[in-house]
Amino acid sequence: KDSIDLAVIGGDGIGPEVVAEGLKVLEAVSAAKVNRTEYDLGARRWHETGETLPDSVLEELRGHDAILLGAIGDPSVPSGVLERQLLLRIRFELDHYVNLRPAKLYPGVITPLAVDRVAPEGIDLVVVREGTEGPYTGNGGALRVGTPAELATEVSVNTRFGAERVVRDAFARAQARERKHLTLLHKHNVLSYAGHLWRRTVEEVGQEFPEVETAYAHIDAATIYLVQEPSRFDVIVTDNLFGDIVTDLAAAVTGGIGLAASGNINPDRTAPSMFEPVHGSAPDIAGQGKADPTATILSVAMLLDHLGRGDEARRIEAAVAGDLSDRRNAVRSTSQIGDAIAARLS
Ligand code: IPM
Ligand code: MN
Repeated sequence: KDSIDLAVIGGDGIGPEVVAEGLKVLEAVSAAKVNRTEYDLGARRWHETGETLPDSVLEELRGHDAILLGAIGDPSVPSGVLERQLLLRIRFELDHYVNLRPAKLYPGVITPLAVDRVAPEGIDLVVVREGTEGPYTGNGGALRVGTPAELATEVSVNTRFGAERVVRDAFARAQARERKHLTLLHKHNVLSYAGHLWRRTVEEVGQEFPEVETAYAHIDAATIYLVQEPSRFDVIVTDNLFGDIVTDLAAAVTGGIGLAASGNINPDRTAPSMFEPVHGSAPDIAGQGKADPTATILSVAMLLDHLGRGDEARRIEAAVAGDLSDRRNAVRSTSQIGDAIAARLS
């Protein structure tokens, strides 16, 4: 196919600004014609109409090859409304069970792991975060709210089906990488039921991938390893909530969330996948041209990869790598960074 039907959701805060730069780079690299449809979703729409994600829009989204999203969330909307009814609803409805979050330390990027030099061994890992289960399903409840006897539960849902499909995907990704190493992160010493399910699933699915070496770490210990010895990780697989937390840390040690890309992937291709920077809407700097669009630009590379356009994805990554190695402490606006990366493509 020689065109890409792209749904674009700029969203809230800095979302539209960073998405504009992602699209700039996509146009600069793509040999295919990009047909974009912009969807006005997020805080503004909610305030004006009370809508978060109308069913008709969800159905339209299904008709695209991929979705590019900026960020969702605004302090003027009660916490959780847009997150749950818009962002998580898309991930669940389009069955984005692989939330793919690479963390790579590019040459020249300053990491907080070392004061005035980059980390000695380098970091090049990818987190396969489960995207449709865990405590994100909204199972839970509260009793006697506002009283001293208040009780709240958040139930983490873990199905064999859900764990197995994401674990198999993670093994396949590990198999395709040089090190062929997969680490399960969980907390089976406390969360025994789910921990047992995940551990057994890794053991059993692992039989299909004899070349892949597996390891296990408790999630708390993993935060130490990520800071002190990040090179021990290659591919990480974990549940939705642990994956959320650990990918912020992985982003922080590889140059910050301004650089962290992600893909909400439906590996079975029964619906379009959605690509978005790991960062949020950063309302405090919205509209000022201060946001770093690099995470969105790298998410565009992931999008192209998913659409079988690996050559174009590699070209974006190379352009970003070039820009990163030259940027040091230069202060540039959102669009200046986008322009600079796009210029490296021509
Ligand atoms: C992320 C975000 C979301 C998540 C929020 C906004 C619902 O933190 O994409 O990492 O928790 O998945
Ligand atoms: Mn997060």
